[in-house]
Amino acid sequence: MKKVVFVGLYLAFVTSCNNKMVQEDSTEARIDSLLNIMTIDEKIGQMNQYNGFWDVTGPVPEDNDTQLKYEHLKKGLVGSMLNVIGTKNVRELQELVVNETRLGIPLIFGYDVIHGHKTVSPIPLAEAASWDLPAIEKSARIAAIEASAVGINWTFAPMVDISRDARWGRVMEGGGEDPFLGSLIGVARIKGFQGDDLSAANTIAATAKHFAAYGFSESGRDYNTVDIGTSVLYNTVLPPFKAAVEVDVKTVMNSFNVLNGIPATANSFLQRDILKEKWAFNGFIVSDWASGSQMIKHGFARDLKHVAELSANTGSDMDMESYAYVTYLKELVAEGKVKESVIDDAVRRILRVKYGLGLFDDPYTYCNPEVEKEMLYHPDHQSAALDMAKKSIVLLKNASLPGQDKQLLPLNKNQVKIAVIGALADDKNSPLGSWRLASDDNTAVSVLEGLKNYTDNLTYAKGADLVIGEATFRDEIKINETDKSGFDEAIKVARAAEVVIMVLGEHGFQSGEGRSRTQLDLPGVQQELLEAIYKVNKNIILVLMNGRPLAITWADENIPAILETWHLGSQSGNAISQVLFGDYNPSGKLTMTFPRSVGQVPIYYNHYSTGRPDPTEQVFWSHYSDESNMPLYPFGFGLSYSEFEYSNLQIDASDNANIKIKVTVKNIGRVAGEEVAQLYIHDKFASVVRPVKELKGFEKFSLGPNESKEIEFVLTDKELGFYDNDGEFIVEAGEFTVMVGTNSQKGISGEFIRK
Ligand code: NOJ
Repeated sequence: MKKVVFVGLYLAFVTSCNNKMVQEDSTEARIDSLLNIMTIDEKIGQMNQYNGFWDVTGPVPEDNDTQLKYEHLKKGLVGSMLNVIGTKNVRELQELVVNETRLGIPLIFGYDVIHGHKTVSPIPLAEAASWDLPAIEKSARIAAIEASAVGINWTFAPMVDISRDARWGRVMEGGGEDPFLGSLIGVARIKGFQGDDLSAANTIAATAKHFAAYGFSESGRDYNTVDIGTSVLYNTVLPPFKAAVEVDVKTVMNSFNVLNGIPATANSFLQRDILKEKWAFNGFIVSDWASGSQMIKHGFARDLKHVAELSANTGSDMDMESYAYVTYLKELVAEGKVKESVIDDAVRRILRVKYGLGLFDDPYTYCNPEVEKEMLYHPDHQSAALDMAKKSIVLLKNASLPGQDKQLLPLNKNQVKIAVIGALADDKNSPLGSWRLASDDNTAVSVLEGLKNYTDNLTYAKGADLVIGEATFRDEIKINETDKSGFDEAIKVARAAEVVIMVLGEHGFQSGEGRSRTQLDLPGVQQELLEAIYKVNKNIILVLMNGRPLAITWADENIPAILETWHLGSQSGNAISQVLFGDYNPSGKLTMTFPRSVGQVPIYYNHYSTGRPDPTEQVFWSHYSDESNMPLYPFGFGLSYSEFEYSNLQIDASDNANIKIKVTVKNIGRVAGEEVAQLYIHDKFASVVRPVKELKGFEKFSLGPNESKEIEFVLTDKELGFYDNDGEFIVEAGEFTVMVGTNSQKGISGEFIRK
């Protein structure tokens, strides 16, 4: 390693610092000294991020000249690269900047490590359904181990956007509709990525994204306008970001949307007032892909120079692929339109993260080919992915057929004859889901493969294609809307079988960025296929694969058993089969409401009450003429092969600071199972109206048959307070309802007064 002119200079500062404070001071001192000798070009270079030499997301930038990027790298005009992976590639570019530039400041390599790397774990919305924070943390840890092994030191995850709109394709990337649970999930994922020691070779910096309110894109159309009230902003959108900052997330990504007419990338209120000042965030903000230059299209910036001025001044520290900073910031500083102190602050933040990652001590920490070889697809990672996949599955329905007293699931291992129908049953690619950039295609265990481990007595008929041609991450997917030529064969197979497993839903690439839908049905001819099979055999288990809530109202009314399996990643088919045959008792619970109809969207459990919530004989109450107000499956819903009974709710509100709620939960089923007991509150009257229900606690535990357990929750000001419309957290005295139960609609309730 040559040019560690500078690195050598600074190593002098850090001898052996045991104390964290001393280390922090010393890092700041190193940064000060470095800033002192950096030219303005070198500083601006740190604020510039380029895509690697192949394109992954977003529109291809106009100036995508590889040579230009190489020249800029050599001149120290680039601080970070995204989408460069592999120890060989990363080392090559790192050597280029360390050896060729004057100061040899290492690059930070970013990548979308969203749910696993080579070993793919379930999509984040699925993982959220486990309500299992240690398992979610472990999944992120494994993703970090694999990603860091290929040279990556920074992931653009977790997405902590709360969303209530299943039409928005990016709900697959988040934790669902609830800010309390969403915050905890975000924190678990950040801890998993960043670990206890960021400078270790197998931990990576995380990104809380997209700041802010991207999940509220109007009508669920990606990149669309956001127009929300302050109460929703403070109480729903911002809490997961605040929680992320509190556990020291290293970076935050801003978002594509406007908020109150101001694009997030140039939003001083969000970036400076809230994030950097009020929350004292000391990492850096990266823009989203060309979200800077897109402000011209928004009608906010006049040209690219204006983009640079607006984004830098409002606190966007690193420019991803807009070319605005590298082209214009120097000029703007010379003209006095951007102060050098603004640049210094941004660079200081970026260098702080690079120091934290240990890149100054060894820029090649993440470039060990042996680790790369050893860690990718490590068997331990595969078994953790299987465990996570099982935990993510949600049993939506499990009825018995008329005249029979036994529920359809779990299947008897000696079942006479099983028919498997649906294109997704034989698909090894789709279950990997969207946003799995590094994974190898067709590496998921398919449902058919998983089932074959249990029985040979299977017949398979596709029934109909879901997709025409090849489905890819970038291109619009063509759904089969007409070809039903496989129906006859599927009907024949179903007729001859005792039980039919139908694997239907969305292709893995039907959700994710740019994948909004106006319909939430089973795409293409799948609904017709389901109904056609139902006519000849009612013993159907519907295995759903999808990246968002679906409105499967007909299936709920007619099909006896429904299993929500999302896109479960590498071990998909094994996890599903274990649940189908009862080797794993499902315990997942939905973290997004499933609507009965698209027209109900946005539908979410923690809504306000209207002034006319109660049915009247006349029409003048808040309802639809053609659909109920109720969801198909509520937030927190999920069945088990066991059954849990809640009793003996006890409330002790004698101490305002520590309100204790106890409840007894008993497994009244025949098998052992896991339950997630959920606690909801309702603040009956407040200076700003409060939602009809708010999740404020949960506990996941396992109980054997007939076993019971007393669960205790403690409510403090943190759970009972809320943000007023000035963004101040307040706690008011008054009456509360509390409910503890198995989902957001079913539980036992009581009341208390907070004095
Ligand atoms: C655009 C997406 O919105 C963002 O989440 C992602 O991290 C970047 N592209 C980089 O791929």
